Amino acid sequence: MIPIGHIDSDLLRNMETIKHLVGNTPLFPIKRIFKKKNVKIFAKMEWRQFGGSIKSRPAFNIIKQAILRGDLKKGMTLLDASSGNTGIAYAHIAAALKLKMKLVIPEGATVERKRILKMFGVDLVYSEGKRTSGSQDAARIIYAENPDQYFYADQYSNNDNWYAHYLTAEEILQQTNQGVTHFCCSLGTTGTFMGTGRRLKAFNPDIQLVSLQPDHSEHNLEGWKHLATAKIPSIYDDSLADDTLFVNTEEAYKMIADISLHEGLLVSPSSAANLVGAIKLAETLDNGIVVTVFTDNAAKYSQVIDEVAAQYL
Ligand SMILES: Cc1ncc(COP(=O)(O)O)c(C=O)c1O
Repeated sequence: MIPIGHIDSDLLRNMETIKHLVGNTPLFPIKRIFKKKNVKIFAKMEWRQFGGSIKSRPAFNIIKQAILRGDLKKGMTLLDASSGNTGIAYAHIAAALKLKMKLVIPEGATVERKRILKMFGVDLVYSEGKRTSGSQDAARIIYAENPDQYFYADQYSNNDNWYAHYLTAEEILQQTNQGVTHFCCSLGTTGTFMGTGRRLKAFNPDIQLVSLQPDHSEHNLEGWKHLATAKIPSIYDDSLADDTLFVNTEEAYKMIADISLHEGLLVSPSSAANLVGAIKLAETLDNGIVVTVFTDNAAKYSQVIDEVAAQYL
């Protein structure tokens, strides 16, 4: 039992006012790019929620559970490391809750991300390079120097990250009339794959879980980890996936153009790469319903979109 006096009831009440804006994303049927008898592909449109990406789900759950445990109270600063989407989702929620926020991001993060985060009043600290491992180290040092001042969300080790995706799985089961046979997505913090996968397996152990990774350490798929060369998040369990498929950055970039021209959606490199993986998987099947996630749309990726337009349109 949590002593009720430890909970900041103002923060909790404010969380309630945004609760209905998190999750419940539409399931988009891929109808033109991939056509095969008895095999269907769907992607959840995850940018359609408060915070603008799939990371709204874990950001909301991490903050809510911290308030419920009494770990996060008014006057404290929310602290984490993120290459973008989690930071942006936290920033929306922190603004709605009037919470201060400090975020460590790689200095190589896109100008658009930095601009969005600044608009929400986030105190930005830059770590070297393009990857988030340096940002995590820096966030840990900031926290250790002043632990009473911060709630350190630590999305890479926080079980409230993957647990948020139980709801993602519930939505998939409901939206496919419990017909989903395969789920595939990338691994970043690995929260999406772990949480959605665990709940789907608990519902039906025959549902196949396929994790997706970049085919190379020097990839350009924002939010994706190449596990052989990356720091493995502590929430990751390598026994969950039934299989792994690899996606090339160029295939994903071409897919951005295909999705916009043929399906009518302008999505991020990560979303397009998930569809490349879903199609590779679907091509091996005689029957099935494959579900993946469109993590975010293209709004924060103008440089990539310019490259894609120059090369494929
Ligand atoms: C665009 C994008 N794709 C994929 C992911 C990976 O999701 P997860 O952290 O749940 O593994 C992220 C995570 O930040 C992301 O921002």
